[in-house]
Amino acid sequence: MTSVFCAIDTPDLNAAGRLADDLRGTVGGLKLGLEFFMAHGAKGYREIASRGLPIFLDVKLHDIPNTVAGAVGSLLPLKPAFMTIHASGGAAMMRAAADAAAQVGTARPKMLAVTVLTSLDGDDLSAVGQGADAAAQVVRLAKLAKDSGMDGVICSPKEIALLRAELDPDFILMVPGIRPAWAAANDQKRVMTPHEAKDAGASYLVIGRPITKAANPADAARRIAEELA
Ligand code: C5P
Repeated sequence: MTSVFCAIDTPDLNAAGRLADDLRGTVGGLKLGLEFFMAHGAKGYREIASRGLPIFLDVKLHDIPNTVAGAVGSLLPLKPAFMTIHASGGAAMMRAAADAAAQVGTARPKMLAVTVLTSLDGDDLSAVGQGADAAAQVVRLAKLAKDSGMDGVICSPKEIALLRAELDPDFILMVPGIRPAWAAANDQKRVMTPHEAKDAGASYLVIGRPITKAANPADAARRIAEELA
């Protein structure tokens, strides 16, 4: 089943805790990102994880291989279900991260690579010395990620079909930019509904504000689960 990770994008520990309590049983897990982790670190993480839902720790690591391997090792005691690394850090960096995670055997987090940030367009890519064809760069980095021991990538809804055509069916596609038909798009520009993304081949969906800003987050999460069932 395609399961939903709810993005808890707040530095407010109490608000995050309330969401974690409310959403138990209605989502597959929670995504904690840099905003939360920079504010509350491992202690805050443990408070949220203690509510019982799997955690996707979206820290987007990017440094020399030795440092990234050390950072992964430091995060392993938190037992996240998923964590993120920038594919543009290169094959050796991703391999070092995968090897560091493998130390804990089957309990290891699934390692997901970030390919091209969706905030970058062709001009931005050219300005940092990369080819202006964002789609080609996404495919190139996703293949490099797979060959370097990553379990999957984060991708936008419009990249799902492209990546499914190029990579094995078991390669994880974790997809944000999802909006149920009844929810506001907010600042997301190229969205798909949960059902469309599932049909296109998404493995997991990341959904934030349609759940977290709803009058009743648990109800919103339940509606999404029903749409996916
Ligand atoms: O509230 P919303 O559903 O838009 O939240 C989506 C989450 O996924 C946010 O945490 C956002 O930072 C993240 N994300 C995204 N687009 C990407 C990568 C990550 O929306 N390309």
